[in-house]
Amino acid sequence: MAMFQTLPGFRDFYPEDLAKRNHIFRIWRQTAAAFGFVEYDTPVLEPLDLYRAKSGDEIEAQLFSFTDKGKREVALRPEMTPSVCRLVGERAGSLKRPIKWFSIAEFYRYERMQKGRGRCFFQFNADIFGEAGPEAEIELIALQIQCMRAFGLTPDDFCIRLSDRNLWFHFLGSLGLDEEKIRALLGAVDKFERNGDAAFKGYEERFGPLDPATKARVLSFLAIRSFDEIESALGAGASPAITARLADWRKLLGGLSAMGLSAFVQVDLGVVRGLAYYTGFVFEAFDRKGELRALAGGGRYDDLVGKLGGSDLPAVGFAIGDMTFALLLDERGLTPVVSQAPDVYCVIGGEAERKSAFADILALRAIGYRVDYPMKEVAFGKQFKAAVESGAKVALIYGSEELARGVVKLRDLGDRSEQEFPAAAVAESVLAFFSGP
Ligand code: HAM
Repeated sequence: MAMFQTLPGFRDFYPEDLAKRNHIFRIWRQTAAAFGFVEYDTPVLEPLDLYRAKSGDEIEAQLFSFTDKGKREVALRPEMTPSVCRLVGERAGSLKRPIKWFSIAEFYRYERMQKGRGRCFFQFNADIFGEAGPEAEIELIALQIQCMRAFGLTPDDFCIRLSDRNLWFHFLGSLGLDEEKIRALLGAVDKFERNGDAAFKGYEERFGPLDPATKARVLSFLAIRSFDEIESALGAGASPAITARLADWRKLLGGLSAMGLSAFVQVDLGVVRGLAYYTGFVFEAFDRKGELRALAGGGRYDDLVGKLGGSDLPAVGFAIGDMTFALLLDERGLTPVVSQAPDVYCVIGGEAERKSAFADILALRAIGYRVDYPMKEVAFGKQFKAAVESGAKVALIYGSEELARGVVKLRDLGDRSEQEFPAAAVAESVLAFFSGP
């Protein structure tokens, strides 16, 4: 009988794969902590209603959902944002602001399979609640960049494309479009890069042909790639709202520049993000070569906590996915080499010597050394071979001849030098050996 396979789009992690994943998560955790973010978690299974009409049509269509034995409609979480809004919303009154939270968790979307996209994947999510100004975006974009830089990636490897749904709303409103049409057009803009003109099909099926002058203005707005172009498109005779918005842009770009991060950031109004809840700045990270799907995405969603039943709370955040990120590290030769080899491998003469070895093995493990030994009695030669193959740094030799003299022998498996330790003081001696002279 053939072995069972994983479901399409689901992944097994063999130890060497899990070691790499854990290494990435460790660095994300350290980076988030360095930025003053604290970690939370939420359930994998949530009420289906949490996502209905909030995340947007695309995610809703991709939900893994079912009715549970208690006849509840439930879904595996496709993203973290609605859940974290619930947590923060419930304690909004008592949490100190700004609230800076992060998580590393697994998500599920029934997606069409392609490179860098699966049906289960991990995301590092970081969000700030309670700060309405672009100071929150500065902090988050800086964190997103550091989460990638920490692996050795540079501005030649990736960049963050920065855009603004608020500006898009002002701009499309000034063309006389109502909110429903604006949302449908933003859907088209989101798909334009991948689908070209076909991206407008959904809009035109609903509202009829888009008049050519409007379409031309939309296309030239989405082609904007610098703040200067934004200013010249909107600046002259701008409304107070737009003038204030341009000031937010200056603050955001100025903050990132003061942090020395400008080379990582590209203004790009072609990005509007597919999720329905974004209200302001949005940003998406891509590899520079443009070969991979998005590495990360995020933006401001000031209405979502309120929509989920909490009181209004400004919010902004992003998520980095593990799949495209690992692909990019691989391509650049930056995938970490994670050793899981023991520090010490014990070579043990026989049953009598095993008794002496066991006490030391436990003592060394309690100090934190990785220590291994053969489970069954085997010939000395085979044990040395196993010690070398394990990748251990040293072998500790418990021979009957050594123990009769009251010593244990240490062999450095790198330079093959040997020394003897008093059998009564093995743990201290190994500690001293590894601490160096
Ligand atoms: P998103 O753009 O849907 O945003 O996902 C963020 C990242 O998760 C993507 O850039 C990608 O790296 C990864 N990702 C998404 N779907 C898949 C998939 N099927 N397979 C592999 N990786 C995937 C969000 O999820 C927002 N909730 C982010 C956010 C947090 N916004 C505010 N706070």
